[in-house]
Amino acid sequence: IPKNYAQDLEKVFIPHGLIMDRIERLARDVLQDMGGQHIVALCVLKGAYKFFSDLLNAMETLNRNSDQASPIMVDFIRVSSYCNDQSTGSVRVLGGADLSSLAGKNVLIVEDIVDTGRTMQALLPLVEQHGPRMVRVASLLVKRTPRSLGYTPDFSGFEIPDRYVVGYAFDYNDYFRDLSHVCTLRETARDKYALAVQKL
Ligand code: PRP
Ligand code: MN
Ligand code: MG
Repeated sequence: IPKNYAQDLEKVFIPHGLIMDRIERLARDVLQDMGGQHIVALCVLKGAYKFFSDLLNAMETLNRNSDQASPIMVDFIRVSSYCNDQSTGSVRVLGGADLSSLAGKNVLIVEDIVDTGRTMQALLPLVEQHGPRMVRVASLLVKRTPRSLGYTPDFSGFEIPDRYVVGYAFDYNDYFRDLSHVCTLRETARDKYALAVQKL
């Protein structure tokens, strides 16, 4: 555990190296499915920014040595619904991407985690209504939770139990995104960085 966060973290849940290894294999799977075509990779900010960057780097490395390389375009959309460690249930899309440019394109939505599935449930119809040629979703993590709506992404890195995780761009009220490993929080940190739950 990095010294600067030693007081706040319980344990390292997925070390950075393991994440990177998994991403390399995910990149292969994605290209096998979508390769040879133009891909628009859509990053779901803020949580997906590290995964997005590392996944696209891995895809670029594979494309570099390929005869059937896939041109990759990028776009960014900001979607937010959590306060503390709870889904507020109201998924706000705060803009970013020009979704009309997705018409006719092969869209790869890149998300960090599918927890309840509400974010994907809100975002997928928005994307689909602009007439993409195909839509795939890659999520680094999928949580096994009784609160799940049952949505499963096309590509997923790891299945995790029902624990709240931070690091590798996963946040608790915007803290801990800079941490490189995926970690679990101590109870004391939950209180220390807590916000009053907003009534939305
Ligand atoms: C988190 C996470 C996913 C979503 C998953 O985003 O990054 O986008 O929640 O949860 P769900 O499946 O229950 O919808 P958050 O709202 O915390 O915004 P952030 O990405 O800016 O941290
Ligand atoms: Mn998010
Ligand atoms: Mg968050």
